[in-house]
Formats: sequence, C-alpha cells, structure tokens
Amino acid sequence: MDIGIFHTSDEAARAAAQIVIEKPHSTLGVATGSTPLGLYAELRKAWQDGRFSASSAYALDEYVGIDADHPEGYRNVLRRELLGQTGLTGETLHTPDGNAEDPVAAAAAYDFAIGAAGVDLQILGLGSDGHIGFNEPGGSLVSRTHVEVLASTTRHDNARFFGNDPEAVPATCITQGLGTIMEAKVLLLLAFGAGKAEAVTHLVEGAVSAAWPCTIMQMHPEVYVLTDEEAAVGL
Ligand code: GLP
Repeated sequence: MDIGIFHTSDEAARAAAQIVIEKPHSTLGVATGSTPLGLYAELRKAWQDGRFSASSAYALDEYVGIDADHPEGYRNVLRRELLGQTGLTGETLHTPDGNAEDPVAAAAAYDFAIGAAGVDLQILGLGSDGHIGFNEPGGSLVSRTHVEVLASTTRHDNARFFGNDPEAVPATCITQGLGTIMEAKVLLLLAFGAGKAEAVTHLVEGAVSAAWPCTIMQMHPEVYVLTDEEAAVGL
C-alpha cells in the first residue's frame, strides 16, 4: 500500500490525477460522492491538454429506485463530471441499472460486464463507516455486485445531497462487491476530512475484517491511498 498525505485535498487531487494519467487507464472504475470531484476536474483539464483519455468507465454503484432524472442519481452525477470531457460518451460510461424491474438480475449482469471488460484502475472514496462502493460493514469480503441495504450512518452522511433528510436518501443500492472491486489492476483511494480519520486508520493499520470493509484493500497488490492531513490524523 502506497500512502500519500497532503496538506490539502487539492494537492491530493493533483497527485491522484498524475497517478491516473501515468497508469494504464483505458477502462476506469469511477466513484461518486464529493471526494473524487477535484480529481475529476484535474482529469478534465488533462483531457483538454491531450494528456488523458479513457475508453470506457464503470461506476461503483447506483441507488435503487431513484428517479432517472434525479440530479443525485449516480449516473447523472457521473455524466455531469465526465461525459464529453474525459473521452467518455453515454455509451462508454456504464452504471448499474437502479431502475431495473429485477435489481438482483441487473446487479449480476453488471458484474458480468465488468468482469468481461476488466478495470485497469479503480478510483475509490471512503465511507465514514469504512465502506467502499456501498459495501457496508458486516458483508462478505469477497462479494460480487449485489443489492445492498444502506447503513443508517451512510444515509445520514449522504443526506446533504437530499435536502438534509436521511429519509429521502434511497434505502437500497446496487454496488460492485468487494470481490469485484479487488479484481481491478490498480486501486486508488482518496479520503479527506476528519470524518474519515477513523476509517483511514483501519484501512491502513487495522486487522482485515468485515467490520471495516475497506481493510480488504490490504490484500491487493497495488493500492494508492491519498489523504489530506485531517484524514490521516490517526496514522
Ligand atoms: C458514498 C459512495 C461512495 C463514496 C462514499 C463517500 O456513499 N457510495 O462511493 O466513496 O460514500 O462519500 P463522500 O466522498 O461524499 O464523502
């Protein structure tokens, strides 16, 4: 595990962009949440300068049952951040179908597609409870893409995107499983702010355990963890 601690999240985002640009990145795994937004801004700049282009991308997760036009649906977030500015198009940016009639079947189909494509580099954020994607504490450490019930901590954390109402945050999602995520060739995780410090400590120094799902990353051969000083305070 390669760990970089930066004064600010902006510096970390620039360093993260450098890693993405230098590593094979034809098929990217992309995260949502607020953490990777600085990185996406750097990648858009690099694309404009002709230094970066992705052929396809697979999202980590999507809410189940969220209105297709909802601005906080992860497909819509990623379209705003990446389409037409990183080499990606509506056809090459893939997200789980959160509005499928059968979300379990949609999750299995998505998992198959990711396996066939093979992710070169997976960008990750970190939940304050140690989730990656939406793999909440207590789940399997080798899971495939599946339907997950969100932890109440996560619904509270994400309420800021839903009018500060945790009840307005969808209760379930489709997420890549930990086993799926671990198949990416390179993992690049970003974590910013004091609210992530406990999870970062477990990620880097804790025992591998389903209680802190991110700890499975200790078993991956090529991991980069980039944080600001606040998130690294427990290291
Ligand atoms: C969300 C997403 C994760 C993200 C995490 C942290 O629930 N499903 O992929 O990494 O929570 O979000 P943020 O970056 O906004 O703190």
